[in-house]
Amino acid sequence: MNKIRKIGVLTSGGDAPGMNAAVRAVVRSSVFNGIECFGIYKGYQGMIDGLIKPLNARSVNNIINKGGTILKTARCKEFYSKQGRKKAFKKINEYQIDALVVIGGDGSFTGAIKFYEEHKLPIIGIPGTIDNDIFGTSFTIGFDTAINTVVESIDKIRDTAISHNRLFFVEVMGRDAGHIALNAGIGAGAEEILIPEEDMGLDRLLDSLRISQKSGKTSSIVMIAEGDKTGKNIFEIASYVENNMPDYEVRVSVLGHIQRGGRPTCFDRVLASRMGVYAIDSLLKGSHNVMVGINNQKMVLSPLVDAVKGKTDINKNLIRVSEILSI
Ligand code: F6P
Repeated sequence: MNKIRKIGVLTSGGDAPGMNAAVRAVVRSSVFNGIECFGIYKGYQGMIDGLIKPLNARSVNNIINKGGTILKTARCKEFYSKQGRKKAFKKINEYQIDALVVIGGDGSFTGAIKFYEEHKLPIIGIPGTIDNDIFGTSFTIGFDTAINTVVESIDKIRDTAISHNRLFFVEVMGRDAGHIALNAGIGAGAEEILIPEEDMGLDRLLDSLRISQKSGKTSSIVMIAEGDKTGKNIFEIASYVENNMPDYEVRVSVLGHIQRGGRPTCFDRVLASRMGVYAIDSLLKGSHNVMVGINNQKMVLSPLVDAVKGKTDINKNLIRVSEILSI
């Protein structure tokens, strides 16, 4: 492999708190190692359109504490096509960029793999998504902040639920994964948690709520991941329960994109910083077409294809913990 002199960094897909800390770490670590660093704005779209600017250590001042991504992000349709990727490669060549750091989720890595196959540009991935659903790492950047945002919101919802003796249905993000629902659900003491990985079934939900009510509970929180498998949306689930438990006053709260924003937690800042430094160290040692991850507190590398194709399992023990503690 040729010596790396210029690195491009981009954020792609859904933003996640801590992405800025990762950009900062990539830029400063590059500068530390005598490498020029370029910010590619708006993800792969910016590669195609040439939205590329040099970044130095001072360009990333005061961003470690900021949510969102200073590089902006996008989901780019044009990059799905070979033609689009060819255009992107042309731009990259104009800037003589000889390696890429892609911060994003599995969609972003799928694009990265194709790009590598066609143009052989060394690429390294950093997992940034609130969903925590990337194979090859125990934590993705943004997950910890998101679950803390959810817990804080549910603490507030609980206050009003208790005051009115209400049953609240709260929807959290997670189109394909229940990590946010399960972890924040336990953290916020939710009575029931519905996730995409397990079909709880509406009858079991009703039974369980009836048991809780009989045991003296006057209010409850049911946490639902947006991708849950009951086949009904949160409003349908809520009205089904309301029809079957008419003595309960039911309310629905969809937390939505509030979960994607906000100042990253210290955990996410440290994770992003470690991942950014490790990504540059690994690139310089000749690793490419891999993703950095964290496993048992240690930084690890895994093939990008695994990150995309592998499946992260839900921790079944968490389901048990939730069931035991929500009696
Ligand atoms: O970042 C991942 C995610 O939060 C999913 O859980 C969610 O379904 C999706 O993003 C929604 O993203 P957008 O509104 O940007 O399409």
